[in-house]
Amino acid sequence: MKIIVSKIFTLFFIVMYNLTFAQNKSDREWIVIDKDWRFSFGHLYDTKKDFGHAEGYFSYLTKTGFGDGPASKDFDDRAWRKLDLPHDWAVEQPFGENGSFSHGFKMAGKGFPEKSIGWYRKKITIPETDKGKIISLQFDGVFRNSKVFFNGYYLGTEQSGYNGFEYDVTAYVNYGGENTIVVRADASMEEGWFYEGAGIYRHVYLKKTNPVHIALNGTYVTSEVKADNAEVTAEITIENKGNYKGSVEVIQTIFDASDKQNANTSESITVPEFYKSANYKSKLIVHNPKLWDIDLPNLYRLVTELKQNGKIIDRYETSFGIRTIKFDAEKGFFLNGKSLKLKGTNNHQDHAGIGTALPDEIQYYRIQKLKEMGSNAYRCSHHPPTPELLEACDKLGMLVIDETRLMGINDYHLNDLERMMKRDRNHPSIFCWSVGNEEWNIEGNIVGERITNVMQDFAKSIDSTRPVTVGISSGFKSGISSVVEIMGYNYLGNGDIDAHRNEFKNQPGMGTEEGSTFATRGIYFTDDAKHYQSAYDRKPRPTFYSIEEGWKFYAERPYLAGMFIWTGFDYRGEPTPYGWPSVTSYFGMMDVCGFPKDNVFYLKSWWTNKPVLHIMPHWNWNGMQGKEIEVWVHSNCDEVELFLNKKSLGKKKMEINSHLEWKVKYVPGTLEAVGYKNGRKILTEVQKTTGKAENIKLSTDQENLSEGNVKVVTVEVTDKNGLHVPTANDEITFSIKGGKILGVGNGDPTSLEKDQFLDDVELVSITHFQEQKGTSASLPNELSSYPENEWITAFQDRDYKKQAPSHIYRGEFDLKKYSASNTVSFFYKKIGIETVVFVNGHLINPSAEDSQKYVLDFTVLKEGKNAIYIAATPLQKIKDWDVMNTDPGIIQVITPAKPWKRKLFNGYAQIIIQKEENAKEVILSAFANGLKTGTLNMGFKK
Ligand code: GAL
Repeated sequence: MKIIVSKIFTLFFIVMYNLTFAQNKSDREWIVIDKDWRFSFGHLYDTKKDFGHAEGYFSYLTKTGFGDGPASKDFDDRAWRKLDLPHDWAVEQPFGENGSFSHGFKMAGKGFPEKSIGWYRKKITIPETDKGKIISLQFDGVFRNSKVFFNGYYLGTEQSGYNGFEYDVTAYVNYGGENTIVVRADASMEEGWFYEGAGIYRHVYLKKTNPVHIALNGTYVTSEVKADNAEVTAEITIENKGNYKGSVEVIQTIFDASDKQNANTSESITVPEFYKSANYKSKLIVHNPKLWDIDLPNLYRLVTELKQNGKIIDRYETSFGIRTIKFDAEKGFFLNGKSLKLKGTNNHQDHAGIGTALPDEIQYYRIQKLKEMGSNAYRCSHHPPTPELLEACDKLGMLVIDETRLMGINDYHLNDLERMMKRDRNHPSIFCWSVGNEEWNIEGNIVGERITNVMQDFAKSIDSTRPVTVGISSGFKSGISSVVEIMGYNYLGNGDIDAHRNEFKNQPGMGTEEGSTFATRGIYFTDDAKHYQSAYDRKPRPTFYSIEEGWKFYAERPYLAGMFIWTGFDYRGEPTPYGWPSVTSYFGMMDVCGFPKDNVFYLKSWWTNKPVLHIMPHWNWNGMQGKEIEVWVHSNCDEVELFLNKKSLGKKKMEINSHLEWKVKYVPGTLEAVGYKNGRKILTEVQKTTGKAENIKLSTDQENLSEGNVKVVTVEVTDKNGLHVPTANDEITFSIKGGKILGVGNGDPTSLEKDQFLDDVELVSITHFQEQKGTSASLPNELSSYPENEWITAFQDRDYKKQAPSHIYRGEFDLKKYSASNTVSFFYKKIGIETVVFVNGHLINPSAEDSQKYVLDFTVLKEGKNAIYIAATPLQKIKDWDVMNTDPGIIQVITPAKPWKRKLFNGYAQIIIQKEENAKEVILSAFANGLKTGTLNMGFKK
């Protein structure tokens, strides 16, 4: 597996390189613009705190190009925080009891008007040479309700936090100069009942094309496997956003993974008319196709070129796979004609430390972890995923159910479904569309039936090659379940699956959710006071089933295509069966970091062909001497014998899809399991009582992902013999060279520790701004005394036709908490032609890099109120209607981040690091009181 992953990655980067290189030959450019955004919180309803947005007499909805406040192109964002995407502002916030249960108690989003609006601004340059091209902005997903502006022009609103969307900005471009992109995200509403993050948490691209080009998601590749050949149908959508009338040549070429050309066609077509689009189909034959499979995920590339008068004007690449899928109501699911039981998990999209802002490498990390567990299928519950997740599934060999967010028959619902399907339908990993989940209000009734009929037929009109399912939790035999193509059973406890099946003999089915068990990683005794759920696989609630019970049920019934466990990974929110201060779920087979709970070994035993032997619990039970401890063994051996300190506790026969149990009186030492297959000893496994924690150990299992910039580091402690200490809860502090830390986690559902340690950027307003007239145009070098009774509110009743030669202004700013470690800067906005600034009586010089920025050091500042004086010669109106700036600017206070740290939870913590662009290696060090420091030197190939 490791070798395959490594090859896939190498290939991925070769393809990426070729893609960029090749694309340069056509007019198409697709540039990631994730770097160097400015960010600040606005406010949900207080427009003053929302930087005055939508206050203007002509605001963005009244006249074109009047985006106001931060939406205006000239807004001064120099004092805002700088960051790179992907970004999730919710994960950066502390936890609080008044936060949302379903969203993991982060103090952001719903109920937090100060932390529910995020403004993002970015400047880009577009050269003169781009004139004549179509310039667009492409967003993979913004949570949520995003409004986008370009150079002050309002482009549109995308309500869904999960849809990708695109805006054409060609008409608004400032060629040869600066252009401003502004996004206002509003996360005050929840779309799901699970953690969803907040902000621009997926990639953003700047796209440039010829006016005649392949439309967004404008290819659809399907294939039919016939004997030794695959007939590939490549349908393309060409859009014409210019005045060209005439024909273009469409050249379609298929390459295999080794870049060998497999098939090629070319034909001349008449381009659609101005602002119209049209579809064209080509047929290509791939001889002896290498099929896409979960073990050998072979991929092909369709390269579509448009040639106009001998010049390639567009070149578009589509990754696809050739494979067949089939559901059979009797025999379940078939991939490439072979029966395959779906061993699936449901998952949301967040990860420890980083929330929903996952670097691409983490998508691969997570899918790889699921594969290692033996899982072959993934349900995107309950929303469309980021494109990179699907790429990871295509490349690593993981089947996918792709799910839309809301059920309904209107444009709002069907348009979301259509966009998801058009974006995703070339992924060979996707084998089924899901149009809904547990719609309790409608699932058992006629409304649900009608909606499903429409959505299902609608889905078929966009992709006829895959079936449609809905996850259903009640009212089997009626409503949605009576018409849905593939019955999605959510939980054995919710109805009689066999009875439903007996009534709907022609309807295939699968368990879209099963399990919903509770477990805390590394915990073996339930303790409700501590919110600990023991990791033994037990029936979670009287009407629910354990993982083992669930799997046995599905494994025994060929007519059921398989099951999807709720869930593969723990996620933030839904901390059932607890509430505050538990902040993540207990359902995962792995915790939020991807550290396995013991159920992973149950699944590995029956979901993989590799020999497995695993003993639970650990054997560090100081204080429990002589007490009985339940010992479980997960294994796929025929028989297992257990020994305590070399004394046999008996040999037991393993039943298929089961586990073994012993009751063992605790004495420290070594618990050893020996596994037999066909009477032969094939495996041994031990749990040893360890000594106390002595060394910090850092490791990464991602050698094979080293082409990327991001690594996941496991933090643990070992005793003097190098044994992992499973009970260690030490707090570890980190330092890094050559990179930065993106997030820390430990899988503890009750941990309220920070996920991220970031500099705090606070913006402090200048208040009580007053003025007096000066007598001369030459400005003072030092402050004199000004008559107290002559101060008037600044700029009030200013007669711009008769201004004084200069003004002296004064105001104050409040540094509530101030220390010498703060960096304080005054970002001045011009209120005069010549300006001199004084703070607490000291003359301040402008900074070298920006003549309108003044860095204020601790020798001039104090905690509490500080006085600022500005002497300036006045700005003059040129036209009567000129609106003059009256805002002197803002004070920025940066409080440096505290060192990154995290407690171990039952022996483990995780830290996600990202290499600096030009660094060759990253050195991570970890310290803790009384422990030997750990250091990890990570090399990178890029
Ligand atoms: C299901 C639901 C999931 C999750 C799960 C928790 O009913 O579909 O999204 O909430 O319950 O048990």
